This record gives sequence, C-alpha cells and structure tokens, in this order.
Amino acid sequence: MSNMTIVGAQWGDEGKGKIVDLLTSEVDMVVRFQGGNNAGHTVIVDGKKYVLHVVPSGILHPGKMCIIGNGVVLDPASFFEEIDALAALGLDVSPERLKISYKTHLIMPYHRAIDGAREGKAKAKIGTTGRGIGPCYEDKKSRVGVRAGDLTDPEVLKAKIEKALEEKNVLFTQLYGVPALDPEQVFNDLMALAPRLVPYLADASSLIMEANAAGQNIMFEGAQGVMLDIDHGTYPFVTSSNVVCDNASIGAGVNAGLIDERIAIVKAYTTRVGAGPFPTELFDETGDFLRSQGGEFGATTGRPRRCGWLDIVVLREMTRLCDPTTMALTKLDVLTGLKDLKVCVAYEYEGKIMQYPPQTPRGLDNVKPVFEVLPGWEEDLTGCTCWDDLPENCRRYVERIEELLGVKAGFISVGPDRNQTFKH
Ligand code: IMP
Repeated sequence: MSNMTIVGAQWGDEGKGKIVDLLTSEVDMVVRFQGGNNAGHTVIVDGKKYVLHVVPSGILHPGKMCIIGNGVVLDPASFFEEIDALAALGLDVSPERLKISYKTHLIMPYHRAIDGAREGKAKAKIGTTGRGIGPCYEDKKSRVGVRAGDLTDPEVLKAKIEKALEEKNVLFTQLYGVPALDPEQVFNDLMALAPRLVPYLADASSLIMEANAAGQNIMFEGAQGVMLDIDHGTYPFVTSSNVVCDNASIGAGVNAGLIDERIAIVKAYTTRVGAGPFPTELFDETGDFLRSQGGEFGATTGRPRRCGWLDIVVLREMTRLCDPTTMALTKLDVLTGLKDLKVCVAYEYEGKIMQYPPQTPRGLDNVKPVFEVLPGWEEDLTGCTCWDDLPENCRRYVERIEELLGVKAGFISVGPDRNQTFKH
C-alpha cells in the first residue's frame, strides 16, 4: 500500500468526498491539508447523507485517524457545529481520533466580517463562500494570524487580537461603514471555546510521520479544485490556498517524498460556483439538464452551480501541475440521455489553437472552445458495477478522456452511494 493525495481536478465539487470515503477503507489516517469550511463534501452511506466541511471524510469510518493539517483554516464555532452534527449521527468525533495541528490558522469573526463587507461592496464580485477564508489566509501571510495553538497561551492570543483589530477596525468604520469589533469581546468569545478545542490540538507532523514509520497508509485529502488554486487557477476568481497535489506536503507538514500516489477527481462534465471564466459553460437547456440531473447546487451555500461540457484544456493544465498517477471519473451517470456529448479538446485564441489556457489576464474570457463530438447513450448507469456493464458509447467517452490526458481512469463513479463506484 501507499500514501496518496486526492485533489479536485476542475473548479471543485467533483465528488472528492465520495472517492476519499471509498479509499479510506484502504488507509489508516486521513489528513486535510488546505481550505476550510468553504468546502462541502457530501457523502451518502446507506442512504444517509453526511455533509463535511472541514473534518476529513475519513471520520465516517470507525477507527481511522483524522487530522486537520496546518494548511487548513479553521472556524472554531463552525467546527463544533460540524462535529456535533456528526456526533448526532452516531459518529465518534472525540479528540482520540480527530486532531488539529497547533499551526492551523483560525478564522476569526473579523475575517468573516471582511469577507462579507468586501463582497457586499465590490462591483466585480469573486463570489466567495463568505466564510472568511481569504482574509484568514491574508493574515497568515501578513504574519498576524491567530493559530489554534495560541489558545493555549491567552496572553499571546490577546495581543494578536488587539493588534489585528487596530488595523481592521479602521477598515470597518472608515471604509466598509460597519461597526468596529471589540477586541475584549472577540478574545472572550474565543477563550470560551478553548477548553473544548485544546484537547484536539496535536503536533500533526509528528503524528503523520510516526504513522508512516509504523507502516500505516495515509491519505491527504484536498478541497476545492486545481482551477481554484491561488497561483495556478483562474486568478483572481480562485480560493486563497494552493490546491495542487504538492501542497499536501506543506499543508500537512511532511516531506513530499512520503507521498507515492496522486489521484485527481474529474467530474464527467464541468461545473463552477461563483464568478470567473468558464469557457465551456452552457446557458441552454443542456446546462439546465446537467444541473438538475447532477443535483448541482452547492453543499455549503446552496447556490446553483454553473454547468458546462468537459474541458480537456483545463484538465491538461491540471495534469501538468499534478501529474496524477490515476484519475477517478465521477458522475458519469448524469450524462445519460444526452444525444451528443461535446468535449473541449483545445481553445482557439487570437487566431491560434491552444492546448493550455492562455496566460494573459483576460485570455480565458476570450477563448473559443474547440469541440469534439462523441455519441451519447440512453442506458441508466446507476446499477453498473464494472467496466463491462457500461454501454459501449460510455466506454468510448471514458477511453477518449484517458487518451486525451494520458491518465488512466482507475475509478469510475455512476451514482452518489458508496457502492456506486468501481475500479477499472
Ligand atoms: P472562498 O474560498 O470562499 O474565498 O471563495 C473563492 C472562490 O472559490 C469562489 O468562487 C467560491 O465559489 C469557490 N469555492 C470555494 N470553495 C469551494 C468548493 O469547495 N467548491 C467549489 N467552489 C469553491
């Protein structure tokens, strides 16, 4: 067995939670390495629906160790809401099996307030989830962030909050026209959560390295998708962390040599939420069909997702950034009933045919997708349990994607339940 990283290949919502959940049976530990409660992983087990935001999906498997790495941003109140909901469904979310790195940055009320105020005011909105993700990562980079470990040292915590609010309160009152936050109140509210949060803190790097040394298998679970990566995504319409596979080592606190496999989760068509370029977006009834058949509404915000054809250019970029050892192709069943399936194999841009996204600021807004058309299928796929069960046109669709990307679809998913995925 081996250690593996799992990332979303497009703009998020590829069905990572489900694949992570499936592969968790093969590992001993699951580590989240970036993002925060902007993510929403929906996993259905025996008809029961679990929505995870920051807790690793491994929590659904009794006995598996789950770690929230240093690269994650954690909103303490929302974390407790999430684990309380999981506990109510009968899951063990105790500090014995769920750990948070001392170095994980905390999302503070002022981060949420800034996120909301900015998006409220902005003419060109990014369409964030409003969870304070960006402002929290900003503070991390500005070296004024609050880390989970600060809860063990009230003096340090208080000084940090006072310093942060000195600047932020000017923004609130002078620029955004919202009331200033009282540092004492922010401190007291957070300290009230400390007794419950501190038992979850751990030296996450050591735990992971020890598990590895003991021959255990570890999964590094990503959130969002490569096109939302802060460096390589459709900037500025991105999230504020690195989503690419190699950030797993940084966001978990281990050396990259420890990770053997990289699994990219690819949805059989494309979706995105929030603003930003989306060359294969559909504004017609086919887009509506994908949205309703695929249940394409955000697990975190409930927003309808924008839907479009599969975009190989975006996936080629993902492939060169992540070099996946395999991919999981999800939601193939959603395409049933479409007569023709279009696959964008290149872009036409300024008179040239491009295999990769243009690098110029508004390039992606101005590309024209070059489509290849493949025949669709009518058969319901949701009962398929192996490659040979798939209709011929469906197999051709999968094989063409594999061929275009040079990556094998090692997993195929044909429905939301745990048993509706098979290896290929
Ligand atoms: P933020 O991460 O809340 O700052 O939002 C930045 C952009 O990333 C917005 O377009 C969001 O819709 C998008 N985004 C953030 N998290 C997810 C996710 O888990 N799935 C899909 N899109 C996401």
